[in-house]
Amino acid sequence: EKTAIGIAHSKVILIGEHAVVHGQPAIAIPFPLIGVETEIEYVPGTVKMDSTFYHGPLQHAPKELEGIVECVSKSCEYLGIPYKDLLIRINSSVPPGKGLGSSASVAISVIRSLFHYCERECSPEDLLKLANVAETYAHGAPSGLDTLTITSDKPVWYKKDNPVEHIELGEDLHFIVADSGRFGDTRTSVESVANLLKTAPHRIHSKIERIGELTHHAKEALEKASKQFLGQLLNEAQKELETLGVSDAGLNKLIRFAREEGALGAKLTGGGNGGCIIALAQNEVHSKQLAEKLRRFGAAAVWPFVLKK
Ligand code: PMV
Repeated sequence: EKTAIGIAHSKVILIGEHAVVHGQPAIAIPFPLIGVETEIEYVPGTVKMDSTFYHGPLQHAPKELEGIVECVSKSCEYLGIPYKDLLIRINSSVPPGKGLGSSASVAISVIRSLFHYCERECSPEDLLKLANVAETYAHGAPSGLDTLTITSDKPVWYKKDNPVEHIELGEDLHFIVADSGRFGDTRTSVESVANLLKTAPHRIHSKIERIGELTHHAKEALEKASKQFLGQLLNEAQKELETLGVSDAGLNKLIRFAREEGALGAKLTGGGNGGCIIALAQNEVHSKQLAEKLRRFGAAAVWPFVLKK
């Protein structure tokens, strides 16, 4: 029986979320600890999906899967294969609604598996184009940051309408992602910032510009191996995100705790108002200790990881 596999990791935003929607840069990093594996199997009949969120023919899939369904049909069309006789088995360890790019990871692993199934090379351009089909359904007007980061193995510097850049690190960095346990709805968060911008344009615009400035400094800090400085920048970005109203009590509690326990910096990551935080640890040993403490403090999930130079 013919089968093929495609995998994708997830992503976290280091700095620049929300401001990136309004034309400022953002830095996102590939997050290798969790990801998606998709297996395609030849099974005669209509296209079917087997996953934790849905099991059955794609034509009857729930509305939340509209994006991935469209992405499968567009990929088949692109590959010139009939839209039938496929079983798509999706195995994801990326929790949805936590700012970790779950929808984009699923889309990218599915596309890769379909290309493997057809024994075709998938160019980065094809991959992004097809993945953005799915993202348009999931996020309305996606910035494209998720798909770019999930297809990269280096930190990504992203600014709307500019070619993407990859950042070369000056040193290994130890980060921890911790889940507040609550879901965050990115779309609602983005809308609330847009509303604030209407009510107090001058004040909010300056916050957004400040985040942009911090993001520029963060790029330098990454390149020049200044992790103390990077930590301060993360803390400052968090302050601005709080004034934009996208942090909440659960996130603030984890962030405060991480700092008290020696994190060089900590902030929310992604859409906010639920979801995860990212903290910068001092070194590998500290990262493991801090992860354990965050776990005992009540984080729903904790992932310490190293970003290699
Ligand atoms: O929640 P996530 O990881 O999808 O990140 C959202 C990032 C925002 O800047 C808030 C929105 C966007 O489209 O860039």
